[in-house]
Amino acid sequence: MINLSTQIHNITLKNPVMTASGTFGYGEEFADFIDLGRLGGIVVKGTTGQRRQGNAYPRMAETPAGMLNAVGLQNVGVDTFCAEVYPRIKHFDTNIFVNVSGSSIEEYCDVAAKIDALDAIPGIELNISCPNVKQGGMGFGTRPEMAAQVVEAVRRIYHKTLVVKLTPNVTSIVDIAKAVESAGADALSLINTLLGMAVDVERRRPMLSTVTGGLSGPCVKPVAVRCVWQVAHAVQIPVIGMGGRPVPRPSKWAPPTSSTRALPCRLSRVWRTTAAATTLPTSTR
Ligand SMILES: Cc1cc2nc3c(=O)[nH]c(=O)nc-3n(C[C@H](O)[C@H](O)[C@H](O)COP(=O)(O)O)c2cc1C
Repeated sequence: MINLSTQIHNITLKNPVMTASGTFGYGEEFADFIDLGRLGGIVVKGTTGQRRQGNAYPRMAETPAGMLNAVGLQNVGVDTFCAEVYPRIKHFDTNIFVNVSGSSIEEYCDVAAKIDALDAIPGIELNISCPNVKQGGMGFGTRPEMAAQVVEAVRRIYHKTLVVKLTPNVTSIVDIAKAVESAGADALSLINTLLGMAVDVERRRPMLSTVTGGLSGPCVKPVAVRCVWQVAHAVQIPVIGMGGRPVPRPSKWAPPTSSTRALPCRLSRVWRTTAAATTLPTSTR
């Protein structure tokens, strides 16, 4: 059998396929559809200090080659995650990463410290790239100094694998990547969604309650590939690439039911690790 195992810092994934945060719930919702043990890792929904209801509806809009979302980090909050969700998912035969989000450096640290105490969670993905919250989120990920500040603070209190998720909504993603690497990140993941907007021309209103939202799906893939290529050439730490996944083919991922198309699952893949670095053609390096 071919060995697809991949290393991210000190975590060994059985293969380089991981789920993208927010598109795969806590994993348990998909256990009836796929064997979770076949995944290299699951990155669970963004988790904040307090429970969040998310933004008002409508918060999803179809676009010609993707979708806009403005979910706004709806989640149960870190305490409920630790007390109720973690016991249900900790036995999964794959690596579980918690996507950690916040509105302040203190909140990021508080959530990270609580997750640090959970034995079966070997790493976190620090989300400094969410475009759908009024405070924090992408605000931390668009300036190198701010990004470094939050990563340094979390690095001081978080002792396992620290992945930092970057936004493409910047002039130079390389500057952010380098700042985050210097601040102590063990790996980077990218890209989060692109800031976008859609208008309902009949109603002459924005499609989303928040007016703007995060664009994902096939249309963002060239942007994701460009960002991953630039960052992979600029840093020494592993880079987890994502962005541009269509809804999976029914025959592959789920029983042939009519509900299959509605599955919001998207998978990301480790595009470059120390082991896979040579997959880039030499002419482009
Ligand atoms: C409905 C939805 C919710 C998301 N929630 C999160 C989240 O909580 N944290 C996060 O870091 N990214 C979140 N994302 C971004 C995805 O993880 C991913 O970076 C982005 O969708 C690009 O990948 P794709 O084009 O393959 O979907 C979300 C995306 C979608 C579509």
